Amino acid sequence: MTTVLSPHIHELFAKRAQQVLPPIYNAARQGHSSLISFTFGFADPALFPREDIAAASAAVLATDADAALNYGMDFVELRDQIIAKLHSQGVFAHEDNVLISYGSSQLLALLPRVFVEPGDVVVIEGPSFMGAVRSFADAGARLIMVPTDDFGMNLDALETVLDELHTQQIRPKFIYTIPTFHNPTGTTMPLVQRKRLLALSATYDTLIVEDDPYGDLRFAGEALPTLTSLDHDDRVIYISSFSKILAPGLRMGWAYAHPAIIERLGMFKVEGSSGPFLTRVVANYCADGRLAQHIQKLTTHYHNKCQLMLDAIGREFPTEVRVIRPDGGFYVWCELPQGVDVANLLMRAEQRGSTFLPGTRCFANGQGNDAFRLAFSFLPSEQIVEGIAHIGAALREM
Ligand SMILES: Cc1ncc(COP(=O)(O)O)c(C=O)c1O
Repeated sequence: MTTVLSPHIHELFAKRAQQVLPPIYNAARQGHSSLISFTFGFADPALFPREDIAAASAAVLATDADAALNYGMDFVELRDQIIAKLHSQGVFAHEDNVLISYGSSQLLALLPRVFVEPGDVVVIEGPSFMGAVRSFADAGARLIMVPTDDFGMNLDALETVLDELHTQQIRPKFIYTIPTFHNPTGTTMPLVQRKRLLALSATYDTLIVEDDPYGDLRFAGEALPTLTSLDHDDRVIYISSFSKILAPGLRMGWAYAHPAIIERLGMFKVEGSSGPFLTRVVANYCADGRLAQHIQKLTTHYHNKCQLMLDAIGREFPTEVRVIRPDGGFYVWCELPQGVDVANLLMRAEQRGSTFLPGTRCFANGQGNDAFRLAFSFLPSEQIVEGIAHIGAALREM
């Protein structure tokens, strides 16, 4: 039985815990309702390499149980594999440039611990990944949102923002961006803009946090260098994850940055190393190029699902809905014609049996009532087709 917490105990909460807003959505509910849900960027369970992960776990326990099941230092082999992956992306990382974490979410929580005092400015895209934005906001950051267009963050708008801040003698702590297969819009920032973004961060003397969990999942267009690989000035903090390319339940991510930044992030990581057992399992799984092969398989699979969704949208949605076609990642972003409100659409779609992420959930300030995000990653093909038909019928009715 739940009872109301006594006000005397409530007073003991830190101010930030008294003020914190409840999560605006709860990913754990995905798959636990009867609705066909396009809401969350869950991986497709059909592609989890169950047997290989079981074999990797068994091998670790058979050969290295004493270290795997005890407290311990970061597992060097996994760090070396991450360094090799960074090298393949043109980033010449050394061991002191890399920190292993419990998912990239842990890094998104550590970053404000290292950089943000209450009231400090952090620049973000609007819309953006709310997990990150919440973490910065909870640390007391003053968030400034820069609009996006088909090429990611709109850099003219960014320049205006940075210029105004400069006039007020305010130096943002960092610019948080998802330049490749953006969450939620699916857009990718072209090379010219990437270079300009780096130049702007140098001119206004701030850092960039490049969040790149989807970069490996490209199924169309030319591969592009990461901001990190173009940076020669230690301005970029790169974070990525095994969540979308292997399995989110493993909770493994990594950061690459200047050693002094990595050291600070590590100092706030109170548990010390990340999972001696799981780091060994992931390293064992990834050995011998298996991860690269798995990524190829995932990419083909997600490409097919994305195409299936776009074809269904083409049949079912009125042409007035503007749809951004992604070159990779997990998401399709849809913009509604004037006068169509996303909350109303969501209600009608749910009455028909399907749900999605309304755009309002992707902005820090209540904008986004004219857009929504569809994740094609999680659902089986039949449900993608059925769910798009529900949303299409709701749209036509409106
Ligand atoms: C842009 C972005 N960053 C970070 C994350 C968190 O990933 P992880 O599972 O590694 O914590 C997600 C998850 O959806 C994401 O979309």
